[in-house]
Amino acid sequence: MTSNIAKPSISDGIDPATVPARMLYNGSKMPAIGLGTFGSDHVSNETVAQAVRHAISIGYRHIDCASVYGNEQEIGTVLKELIHSGQIDRQELWITSKLWNDKHAEEDVLQSLEHSLKDLQLNYIDLYLVHWPFPNFHAKGCDVASRSPNAKPYIHENFMKTWRQMERAVELGLAKNIGTSNMTQAKLELLLADCSIKPAVNEMELHPHFQQPDLYDYLVSKGIQPVGFCPIGSPARPERDKTEVDTVDTEDPVLREIATSHGIHPATLCVKWAAQRGQIPIPFSTNPRNMRANLQSLTTAPLSEVEMDALSKIDKNCRLIKGQVFLWKDDQSWEDLWDLDGEIAQ
Ligand SMILES: NC(=O)c1ccc[n+]([C@@H]2O[C@H](COP(=O)([O-])OP(=O)(O)OC[C@H]3O[C@@H](n4cnc5c(N)ncnc54)[C@H](OP(=O)(O)O)[C@@H]3O)[C@@H](O)[C@H]2O)c1
Repeated sequence: MTSNIAKPSISDGIDPATVPARMLYNGSKMPAIGLGTFGSDHVSNETVAQAVRHAISIGYRHIDCASVYGNEQEIGTVLKELIHSGQIDRQELWITSKLWNDKHAEEDVLQSLEHSLKDLQLNYIDLYLVHWPFPNFHAKGCDVASRSPNAKPYIHENFMKTWRQMERAVELGLAKNIGTSNMTQAKLELLLADCSIKPAVNEMELHPHFQQPDLYDYLVSKGIQPVGFCPIGSPARPERDKTEVDTVDTEDPVLREIATSHGIHPATLCVKWAAQRGQIPIPFSTNPRNMRANLQSLTTAPLSEVEMDALSKIDKNCRLIKGQVFLWKDDQSWEDLWDLDGEIAQ
């Protein structure tokens, strides 16, 4: 499939030196915004790969990938071309990938990382994440009611076996940093007590209507950088991931008024707010104008204290990615995945 994304001219770009970075606890500098690459079943692999090409050409330096997105090969072709042609140095890029849930077994972790590296045509990854704390397989695109017959709850002893291999990836130089995704405070407390290498980041759902203040503050207190997925509230997520109670961030009147006063789209304000709050947003886009606006929003005058305060108050505790497919018993609700009472459900 051919892409309809135009080749940008240099004048379209934003100087990456003007885009902030976050210092991780180990001294690594991670660009404060990344491009998401999950096409949510409706964007082809090639279109996402061409979006990555465009993003890098206009100044993005951080790309959030995952083996389960099924497009690392196409993205790898683009990365190789850009690096080999001298358009970008490998060291300037921050590439994240993630270990999928059916690869938690000790013997699978490094193999899975090597597979991602081969697809991405890289010899190291900047950040490797355990995508979910549950080892439960479900097919891509399956319905939320679908359950794996071998599904298990979080078993810390097993997770530590996975994590030891993540640490091994750092020792072998295959991953510069390792981290978690979709973890809760209760699970992180166990991990922090037992790990040799602390997670550098936790990737989690974060947008104005789902700010997760307690987990956010906990991460910051432990020196773990929050990375925010679905920063715009994932408006194009598949129908199966939508429920009647979900709210729409970009329709929030407070957010819309502030966006209007800054002359930016409400979606761009979500990204700007996220970066200013301190998390690293990873908005997905294949639209050159939107990609540029999101990146540029980190380089313009900050929101005022009053605006940040108003945005902190529009939180609706509205989790969009509920994770139902990871449940392991019939009589459970998705809340059981998120340790709401501080206890890990078994
Ligand atoms: N770790 C995890 O478990 C996990 C889970 C979910 C997602 N993620 C990561 O997070 C990334 C982002 O999440 P997401 O893709 O679900 O949702 P999102 O970034 O919140 O929303 C993406 C949508 O917003 C639109 N958009 C982007 N910028 C815009 C702008 N300036 N103005 C108007 N519309 C704009 C995009 O459309 P256009 O293409 O038309 O711009 C796209 O439809 C994923 O791609 C993936 O990399 C990770």
